[in-house]
Amino acid sequence: MGIWSTKSITRLRREEEGGRHELRRTLSGLNLVMLGVGAIIGAGIFVVTGTAAAQHAGPAIILSFVLAGVGCLFAGLCYAEFSAMIPVAGSAYTYGYATLGELVAWLIGWDLMLEYLFAASAVAVGWSGYATSFLRDYLHIELPKTLTSAPFDVEPGGHLLHSTGAVLNLPAALLVGVITLLLVLGIRESARLNNFIVIVKIAVVLLVIGFGSAHAESANWTPFIPENTGTFGQFGWSGVLSGAGVIFFAYIGFDAVSTAAQETRNPQKDLPVGILGSLVVCTVLYMAMSLVMTGLAPYPTLNVAEPVYVAIAQGGPALAWLKPIVGVGAISGLASVVLVMLMGQPRIFYAMARDGLLPPFFGHVHPRFQTPHVATLITGGVAMAVAALFPIGLLGELVSIGTLFAFTVVCAGVLVLRYRRPELPRPFRTPFVPVVPVLGILTCVGLMVGLGLATWLRLVVWMALGLAVYFGYGHKHSRVAHEEPAGPAGP
Ligand code: ALA
Repeated sequence: MGIWSTKSITRLRREEEGGRHELRRTLSGLNLVMLGVGAIIGAGIFVVTGTAAAQHAGPAIILSFVLAGVGCLFAGLCYAEFSAMIPVAGSAYTYGYATLGELVAWLIGWDLMLEYLFAASAVAVGWSGYATSFLRDYLHIELPKTLTSAPFDVEPGGHLLHSTGAVLNLPAALLVGVITLLLVLGIRESARLNNFIVIVKIAVVLLVIGFGSAHAESANWTPFIPENTGTFGQFGWSGVLSGAGVIFFAYIGFDAVSTAAQETRNPQKDLPVGILGSLVVCTVLYMAMSLVMTGLAPYPTLNVAEPVYVAIAQGGPALAWLKPIVGVGAISGLASVVLVMLMGQPRIFYAMARDGLLPPFFGHVHPRFQTPHVATLITGGVAMAVAALFPIGLLGELVSIGTLFAFTVVCAGVLVLRYRRPELPRPFRTPFVPVVPVLGILTCVGLMVGLGLATWLRLVVWMALGLAVYFGYGHKHSRVAHEEPAGPAGP
């Protein structure tokens, strides 16, 4: 027992029953698709696509999007099975607890911080790039570079941080701070704001695709797969693979839908709809958007912080009107990703605190605002510091490897539970088991390999830190291992 204790599905269901009275079930399938799209479309498409095309895949970046999208679809199908079967807070952490034991669950929970907390910081850094340009171009406010970029960076492929001479990324930190306060004050207001922003964001992407495609030059798509430079990952097919690892970041977020399990009206049906629906919508939009961007601008020119601006600028005066609209879309759209990520993280902390693996104050709910205010403030404080200090490239790769690890475990979890508890009712069944979970594992591990040694080392260090925290605290306080019922969610 101990570190290998699993939490029975019956116990999880009981907790879900108990939770019915705490959290209000107001979200529909469509709301969940909106939540998913709100979390997915962000810095990945608005920022990372440019660097991935310029450094790895060229116009074949669309193939990288297909590859990463298919990998996510396998993982999404596995998430859908779990989320319908165990519709309680905690996402992959909870699924891990049900299948692979407490230690693995803890490690996934710890790892999910890379996905949610660090992703919020990474996207805030992307937001800062667009917000700074927007202020300069339209409001003639020029913020000094020392206050809008990271003071630390690493050489490509390098391990050690070096100082860049900048002081901090102030806009990124401010954005995280403001959103954290919003989340402390009210979850419903936040969700409403998210719905509005998602509509704006999708409209902007559709405008770029629609009007941009009319000005795309087919010459920019030739050669479609630029010849490999002799180094793995720099163009050619290996570049398509590396590009997929890098832009995988763009798909992160569909699983955030599962963190809203306890606020969903009909979770068995709506969670799979939300997860798979948002994923499919975004895959289609991404393929079209990357094709248009590489058609508008020669791919080497896209290696900038605002590649969509560069792409539409190539369309000449006919597309000039789109630039401020893209600015507004990116600024509001990236903010909504930060919002959903910062909303998801405290819910995972809440589930971990309920199980005794984190101190109880992580599960405290504010008596008036009914939000997990302590966990939200801690999440926001750390995310603010990370956003202020580090560049998006470094953060993005760390987020990607952390998320891929969580996806791999969820795919493995589906296999384990099908074998151990075949009789459990599964309102949504992942099709073609074991093929889909196995392909999910292979794709995720493949994308992780493409991320390089330095990122792997950072993952190992992060996980080692997690192990130390587990043995220092969670192991001793675990309620499951000590056969206690789950703790109250709030004070
Ligand atoms: N998928 C999210 C984004 O691209 C994390 O911003």
